[in-house]
Amino acid sequence: MSWQRYCASAPDAMRAGEEFADVLECGDMVLLSGPLGAGKTTFTKGVAKGLGVVERVTSPTFTMVRPHRCHNDRGIETLHHADVYRVETLGEVLDLALGELVEESGVAVVEWGELGASVFGRVVMTVRFDIDDDEGRLLSVDGPLAEERAGALDEWVAR
Ligand SMILES: Nc1ncnc2c1ncn2[C@@H]1O[C@H](COP(=O)(O)OP(=O)(O)OP(=O)(O)O)[C@@H](O)[C@H]1O
Ligand SMILES: [Mg+2]
Repeated sequence: MSWQRYCASAPDAMRAGEEFADVLECGDMVLLSGPLGAGKTTFTKGVAKGLGVVERVTSPTFTMVRPHRCHNDRGIETLHHADVYRVETLGEVLDLALGELVEESGVAVVEWGELGASVFGRVVMTVRFDIDDDEGRLLSVDGPLAEERAGALDEWVAR
């Protein structure tokens, strides 16, 4: 099954991210896939807002993963925002140890995550971004973790 939401603008994509934060539980890993400029970072900024991150979230392209302290009452203490676009080997992705990071008390959102999907060693969900002809983005969520979060995703779609 796949859950879809259409975002006509960047603020829309932010809001979709902010509301997507309500779907997440501690230990969750979300892979974002889509072409350059699709809105992956924009969406992540929204997720950060929804999780109560205060600091500014920017693209972690050069650091590959950046932890952001969250302020919410759901037990999610850290948002690990990763971008694996520049990795050259799967070993580099393994070294990030994202699975271990989220296991402790956080969630991970990984831009270009499909490039490392085979080494995360966790049940994940994927958010795919498709760009249409007039700047809109169609977001499609699927994967085994999405099935586990079906109820919350139904609500996310309906909002
Ligand atoms: N409907 C939309 N959803 C998201 N972003 C949009 C939309 N319409 C326009 N934009 C613009 O597209 C750009 C998306 O940039 P963003 O950095 O979020 O993409 P990205 O997928 O993270 O790119 P990269 O692959 O370089 O990491 C922003 O400038 C944003 O304002
Ligand atoms: Mg980005």
